[in-house]
Amino acid sequence: MLEQAARIIAAGGIVAFPTETVYGLGANAFDASAVARIFEVKNRPAFDPLIVHVACRGQAAACVERVPDAARILMDTFWPGPLTLVMRKIGAIPDLVTAGLPTVAVRMPDHPTALALIRLAGVPVAAPSANPFGVLSPTTAEHVRQRLGDKVDALLDGGACPVGVESTIVSLAGERPVLLRPGGLPAEAIERVVGRLERVASHPAKPSAPGQLAMHYAPGTPLFLTTDPAAPAAGRIGLLAFRPPVDEDRFAGIEVLSPKGELREAAGNLFAALHRLDAMGLDAILAEPLPEQGLGVAVNDRLRRAAASTKG
Ligand code: TXA
Ligand code: MG
Repeated sequence: MLEQAARIIAAGGIVAFPTETVYGLGANAFDASAVARIFEVKNRPAFDPLIVHVACRGQAAACVERVPDAARILMDTFWPGPLTLVMRKIGAIPDLVTAGLPTVAVRMPDHPTALALIRLAGVPVAAPSANPFGVLSPTTAEHVRQRLGDKVDALLDGGACPVGVESTIVSLAGERPVLLRPGGLPAEAIERVVGRLERVASHPAKPSAPGQLAMHYAPGTPLFLTTDPAAPAAGRIGLLAFRPPVDEDRFAGIEVLSPKGELREAAGNLFAALHRLDAMGLDAILAEPLPEQGLGVAVNDRLRRAAASTKG
């Protein structure tokens, strides 16, 4: 299966595969028409650039003009892992991969299946999350099957993704490192290695960096944060709770992200829990924000985007 999937990539096909964060939908990063099929299948606007996945440092270096010192240190410390680095690209990376930007996003996933697939294919693999545009990211092969089904040439099942939220994205294309997206690697851990990260001021509904669209993380059911005074009180309401809730009777469905109150466990369960609540046909989902630290920052970011897209 793995060998066959790798041959499909090398031959210009598209393969859904597990990573430690979420499932990806991959194609040969140097093959523009293969990459175009990803956009077609995802229904994704072409202005949204993709992450190029590599299995070794050499493959990463081959995608960029040069590897800045800070990038080298971050690779040493956190690769393979949920950290994507944005650097200046070389000409051979098709514009379709980078949405015409002069930079490319690269990461080495910490997942045996993903690494073996890329190694066997022998090329870097451009892959967004394996979901149709505007819906929740998939953290199981079943999520991919439900939403993309036979539109992909192959689907590798690696079970549930252990991290469960997308990678943290840091740009090293400018003078100072900039945090573009909070994700599976806490920003605090990165700052201990390269110092303070600049933040892009972004309103969730108005993308200031590519791919920061609010609807990117939206379930089909209206979602409100429990701290929102406008949150509905009547109807069939589901609760996305961090820890076990006090008044359970109020809710038609409850998902507890972490019975033990652990941020890591909560992040890992986020998308699967939202998928389950979304499938219940509820009038609304109330979501409890996590403590704003560590992986809680990435989870809260996804929840705020989902809530902002509810408000249109
Ligand atoms: O964990 C992840 O990052 C997953 C797995 C599959 O690796 N991938 C993922 O891909 O979340 P996607 O396409 O859903 O989000 C990638 C985001 C884009 O939306 C964009 O914001 C950012 O990466 N990105 C890609 N290239 C960029 C660039 N050159 N400059 C700035 N941001 C970039
Ligand atoms: Mg995505």
